[in-house]
Amino acid sequence: MDYAIVLAAGEGTRMKSARHKVLHELCGRPLIDYSIDLALAAGAEKPIVVIGDKAEQITAHLGERAAYARQDFQMGYGTGAAARAAEGLLNDESGLCFLTAGDAPLFGLESLLALRKAVEGGAAAAALLAEMSEPFGYGRAVMEGETLIDIVEEAAASEEQKAIKLVNVSLYCVKTALLKAALQRLKPHPPKNELYLTDLVPILTEMGHEVRAAFCAEEDALGVNDRVQLARAQKVMQRRILEAQMRAGVTIIDPSNTYIDFGVTIGADSVIHPGCLLQRGTKIGPNCTILQNCRIEGSILEEGVRVESSTLREAHVGANTTVGPNAHLRPGAQIGPNCRIGDFVEIKNSRIGAGTKISHLTYVGDADLGEGINLGCGVVFSNYDGKAHLRSRVGDRAFIGCNVNLIAPVTVGEEAYIAAGSTITQDVEPGALAIARERQRNIPGWVEKRKKEGKL
Ligand code: UD1
Ligand code: CA
Repeated sequence: MDYAIVLAAGEGTRMKSARHKVLHELCGRPLIDYSIDLALAAGAEKPIVVIGDKAEQITAHLGERAAYARQDFQMGYGTGAAARAAEGLLNDESGLCFLTAGDAPLFGLESLLALRKAVEGGAAAAALLAEMSEPFGYGRAVMEGETLIDIVEEAAASEEQKAIKLVNVSLYCVKTALLKAALQRLKPHPPKNELYLTDLVPILTEMGHEVRAAFCAEEDALGVNDRVQLARAQKVMQRRILEAQMRAGVTIIDPSNTYIDFGVTIGADSVIHPGCLLQRGTKIGPNCTILQNCRIEGSILEEGVRVESSTLREAHVGANTTVGPNAHLRPGAQIGPNCRIGDFVEIKNSRIGAGTKISHLTYVGDADLGEGINLGCGVVFSNYDGKAHLRSRVGDRAFIGCNVNLIAPVTVGEEAYIAAGSTITQDVEPGALAIARERQRNIPGWVEKRKKEGKL
């Protein structure tokens, strides 16, 4: 049986955050989720996550997706101490154990396979290395031919070693039995008396075993210790996501100004214009046009939808509907096909039937609207009485004039008309015309009269 251990017990002090470092997000997804994916890809049944600092944040996030080992800081700090904490869960010593840090989200499956190949080819262990243009802060790899003999941390490196550009990525594959034996031999490093997992390399070498290296691209090796590195990693992940979308048939007008989260799906021949944020949980169908400056989160857009400069959160938009500019679809907005949702329209927790038009300056909250309805400019569903939210209903093909208030709960029947400016407090039967406003009265000569009286 093979194991995968994800180290995530450290304090991550360089993030200066109340949130655990590995829960900070890269393209809308916590760093540790990328590590968990890779641990699963490595063939581990359940990744073992080492927790310590802010442990409850991690267990709350991962739940049953991981097994947990708790690092007891009284037994020592550092990545070596963290790996030791997981030792008790490695009961089957016949296979391999992958170890990775929860803050290294960018290496790929091919790196895992390369490490596995090295160990299955006879090495005791293998570590992933990369050539870095700015190696500062990383452990430097000391090679002898093809054999890795040491990894020297920044703090312990000589001037000569600091010049080495080959660095340790923090992904290892070790024969489980040898990992357990080597972990016993870790020695603390002053000044903080940390145990370094990287010392596995010289220890296994001393024990007469060979440690091999596998190599990845510089960008795969980026670790996240602070927010500057987080932004760098974000850029790499973002580019990868955008390129995958473009290769799958999505046009992205300006990839340097488009932000698409991990896991967002977009159908072929859709076009994404600059300034858009497509956030987690969003699914966009084929042939959609997302014009400039949209934020779309957790929403489903069917085929041929067109959205301009709008915010959509947990909304569902039917095929060929147009939204915006400047519309706001809030959670529970379910818009049918061929609708028109125009400028400054806000819709919340409401169903809108096929072909209904809500073109300007309207608020629809907690309502069920049928098909083929026309709402004029400035219609307001007054859905809140100060205590509760109440629902209203409008039947198919109803016509609601400009500036109408519908005081919930109220039902407007099919094909009913409501005169502009009405405040509707009672149900309107199908096919009726409702007028609920003061009748207009003109007073001829009123101005002249007031002037004479000296009042104007
Ligand atoms: C580590 C490596 C370094 C490598 C770099 C790559 C060591 C000693 N150094 O350094 O060679 O170049 O990663 O990114 O391993 N952790 C614990 N318990 C602890 C301390 C840390 O679980 O007591 C966890 C952290 O939560 C983190 C991971 O181990 O996820 C790495 O720790 P970090 O302090 O970031 O190590 P680096 O200094 O980056
Ligand atoms: Ca790190």
